[in-house]
Amino acid sequence: MSAQSVFPINHLLKPVVTALFAVAVNTSLVQAAEPANTTTVQELMAGVVTDTTNALWNAALLEPPAGAEKPVPTDAQWQEFRDNALKLQNAPALLMADNLQIAPAGTPATEGSLAPEAIATLRKEKWEAWQAQVSILQEGTAAALRAIDAKDFDAILRAGDTLYAVCDSCHQQFWYPGQQ
Ligand code: HEC
Repeated sequence: MSAQSVFPINHLLKPVVTALFAVAVNTSLVQAAEPANTTTVQELMAGVVTDTTNALWNAALLEPPAGAEKPVPTDAQWQEFRDNALKLQNAPALLMADNLQIAPAGTPATEGSLAPEAIATLRKEKWEAWQAQVSILQEGTAAALRAIDAKDFDAILRAGDTLYAVCDSCHQQFWYPGQQ
């Protein structure tokens, strides 16, 4: 095999190898700078916040036993409320993360709502308002846990109301501002 016949292959491969190397280097740099917080707001809302709060709001659907004034959750039901409140407790820290992604890159805005990039910008511009909403979510969750530990039925309903109100108030400010 002559040197000439090898040359074109080398010539073609070199940029490919260089590019692959550059990708490998970039990836390791990105990983070093931003450790594994890849949860998006969208996933957190759909995968954690919705299910856990629904489970807590189920308290409002319980019926009082015959002759009793208010419902009396069983130990298993209190435990289920507790498991869900504990899961929800992780949401505020994620929502406060610096490098928080709103939705996977390129996710289009649904009608009447902001695109993820616009939400991210608004979140930075109105940081204090965002923080206030996240605090309410955190307080509502803490109140639910206190209610559960005290087996206080009225208090878990009140905590549920706090959690219910903050969904809408945060969404109206940051997801579809200007809509009623
Ligand atoms: C701190 C602000 C904030 C709070 C509090 C909040 N959300 Fe959200 N939520 C958002 C934002 C921002 C989006 C839009 C994300 C996107 O682009 O899909 C969203 C989107 C959603 C979605 C749509 C997810 C999807 O699959 O597209 C659901 C469902 C949701 N939230 C449920 C809730 C519920 C239930 C509560 C209250 C218990 C709540 N959220 C509280 C900020 C918040």
